[in-house]
Amino acid sequence: MATKLKAPPSDTKEIVDVPWPYRDTVERLSPGGRYIDAQTDVDSPWVPFGESAAIKHLSFDVRTNTYSNILWMKGPGTIGTHLHRGTVTMVTLEGSVRYLEYDWVGTPGGLILETPGEAHTLVTEHPDGCKLFGQMNGPIEFYDAQGTYMDTVDVWWFIEHYENHCKENGIAINQKLYL
Ligand SMILES: [Fe+2]
Repeated sequence: MATKLKAPPSDTKEIVDVPWPYRDTVERLSPGGRYIDAQTDVDSPWVPFGESAAIKHLSFDVRTNTYSNILWMKGPGTIGTHLHRGTVTMVTLEGSVRYLEYDWVGTPGGLILETPGEAHTLVTEHPDGCKLFGQMNGPIEFYDAQGTYMDTVDVWWFIEHYENHCKENGIAINQKLYL
């Protein structure tokens, strides 16, 4: 039986001029797609996050309170208990990661999905720690070991974390990171 799906892979390498009546409006108003390098510090530096971790900020969208970055834990360690008010889409790039609350271990290439209302504690026991790419939305509330509210991080917190580091180290702010 023939498939109903009609989007086949292409065997050509040509730019096709798609008929698209809103092109001018899109060009006027869309922030546009872009590529942000994550293999080097050219687009974004590693910003220290505590004693043994760092964050490479990749994008900030203040309209939707959405931000993406790579969290690098340089050895075994913990990110304290936090409660998500939005969603997280995360991929383990290197090392491994788990949560005290769940029974799985995230390894390179695996997809981690977190949904609003989840509270959990991130741990890496890998000798080299882990690198995690995350696209996060909404506020994240942090709690101490007694369950007392500590602080909230959101797109504004991540922007200040990036910009303060740049200002203190004479690094140019990269406008490409801002959607
Ligand atoms: Fe989380």
